[in-house]
Amino acid sequence: MVARMKRTALIFVLVAACGGGKKPAQTTTMESHETKEEPAKPAEPAETPKPEEKPAEAAKPDEGALAQAALTEQYEMGKKVFADKKCASCHGDHGEGNKKNPPVIGEKALPEKAPKTAKLRKGVTFKTAKDVMEFVKAKMPVKAAGTLTDDEAAAVTAWMLSENKVNLEKKLDASNADSVMLHAGAAAEGEAKGAEPAEPAKPATPAKPAKPAKK
Ligand code: HEC
Repeated sequence: MVARMKRTALIFVLVAACGGGKKPAQTTTMESHETKEEPAKPAEPAETPKPEEKPAEAAKPDEGALAQAALTEQYEMGKKVFADKKCASCHGDHGEGNKKNPPVIGEKALPEKAPKTAKLRKGVTFKTAKDVMEFVKAKMPVKAAGTLTDDEAAAVTAWMLSENKVNLEKKLDASNADSVMLHAGAAAEGEAKGAEPAEPAKPATPAKPAKPAKK
């Protein structure tokens, strides 16, 4: 009983100390504190431009479906080329690479700048699908470079890129490969950084609620 009275008295003192009756709610309990101090919601990212927003479906839905089918077919062919032409024997079944052979699928795969250790790729920049396609056609598979047909090189590139989440909208070929950006995602992220609403501004470390009197 005495203890409780003491505590009540303490709280009372605290409340008084914190500005008397003005804003007692802020200081009395943790709960009320939390609700009060919730970080202001980050302003809605306003008009973050959505570069990827597709134009309203083309008038001819068939065309889109056909393009999609052609792309799927190419993807399947590329997957097969990767296995049949021994790409997998060096780069791994799923292109994950290993100590001797670079990954062709995965976060670190196909960097824009050739890896420092690169020999065959030395000085070759991978900016677009075309760069990869041409490199593959010219240099891969290592011991039989130049044996892939254009179709095979395009297909295996399309497969690798798809697996790397590069967005292909059409069957990849020599005429459109240089418009497919490999690192568009990364570039966009970089650009966006400045504008990003970022984390909800951390509430300036809210003054810790006066510690409740020790029990
Ligand atoms: C005998 C092993 C071997 C085979 C088979 C092979 N590669 Fe490679 N590949 C390599 C090596 C090693 C490199 C790194 C070359 C260098 O030094 O620049 C490489 C590099 C690559 C690169 C560039 C990777 C990067 O990020 O620098 C791609 C893409 C690639 N290979 C695709 C293929 C494809 C597609 C095939 C099958 C058609 C294939 N490779 C077959 C060993 C192989």
